[in-house]
Amino acid sequence: MWQFSALLFFLLPGCSTAQDPVTGPEEVSSQEQGSLIVQCQYASHWKDYRKYWCRGAEWSSCKILVETDASECLVKENRVSIRDDQRNFIFTVTMEDLRMSDAGIYWCGIVKSGYDPMFKVRVGIEPGCSTAQDLLTGPKEVSSQEQGSLTVRCQYGSWWKDYRKYWCRGAEWSSCKILVETDASECLVKKNRVSMRDNQTNFIFTVTMEDLRMSDAGIYWCGITKAGYDPMFKVHVSIDPGSSPWCCTIPEPTTSSPVDPQPSMTTIDTIPAPSPQPRSLLSSPYFCILLFLELPLFLCMLCAILWVNRPQTWSGRQGIWPYHESQ
Ligand SMILES: *[C@@H]1O[C@H](CO)[C@@H](O)[C@H](O)[C@H]1NC(C)=O
Repeated sequence: MWQFSALLFFLLPGCSTAQDPVTGPEEVSSQEQGSLIVQCQYASHWKDYRKYWCRGAEWSSCKILVETDASECLVKENRVSIRDDQRNFIFTVTMEDLRMSDAGIYWCGIVKSGYDPMFKVRVGIEPGCSTAQDLLTGPKEVSSQEQGSLTVRCQYGSWWKDYRKYWCRGAEWSSCKILVETDASECLVKKNRVSMRDNQTNFIFTVTMEDLRMSDAGIYWCGITKAGYDPMFKVHVSIDPGSSPWCCTIPEPTTSSPVDPQPSMTTIDTIPAPSPQPRSLLSSPYFCILLFLELPLFLCMLCAILWVNRPQTWSGRQGIWPYHESQ
């Protein structure tokens, strides 16, 4: 008789409903842009069942965000992942890159026929800390020449990767006018003389303004589109008047200087000094000074010398001929 009751006990493990089938933390909170982990413990007999993480105020109508396939494999959907540890009877939910809108009521759940065992978890999200303003940086000042072009690189925190980025003009961040905006992808966007490309590998977006005019000088903003206040960074753009087209243009600083091969120790004495980079004479400010100040001066001096030393045709002949005539 005891054998029968023992068999019954093993056959109907699910009947021990007195204990909570699934439990977890009643409340979890984290910061915007941070991540959080929720661990739900279940009774051992639920080991081989599918587990899920569900969102909604009511258990009956919540929306499943991630669900295991009854194995221990990690399942990830967007910013949420789930993994079941069937040795310790715990499944772990991870939510990453948290947003304020992620706050709310969630449920740990186990799929079974009939009503699922569920446990309610309240998730709170605190606003990001003040350093959120530093999540987007760039150059405070950029200058270029009329008719030239300029490039601004804005660096952002990796969590803004999939957000739309823009380049905005106006003294006030709140009322600036968006000149160009990405579509949250890495595609090049171009509008008139302004183009923009987001690099989501190194978290930098690059704005290029071409064919610059004096009127382009002013205040601009790098920005990221998000709910609430956008992260923005102020960039002063100044434009220098264009100079005469063939002279006095200041050369653009070379971003990548050619690297001279390292001379080996034995030949160091025989290697000639690296020749200076070839550059246009007209682009040198010293050459311009020479051309416009010293050259006229030199010409004037030359004229003066020539005038002083001019052939004494009339007075000379007068002095010489009488001498010859007297011979
Ligand atoms: C992003 O930057 C990386 C590293 O500089 C580069 O290898 C990659 O090609 C860039 N991607 C785009 C879309 O420009």
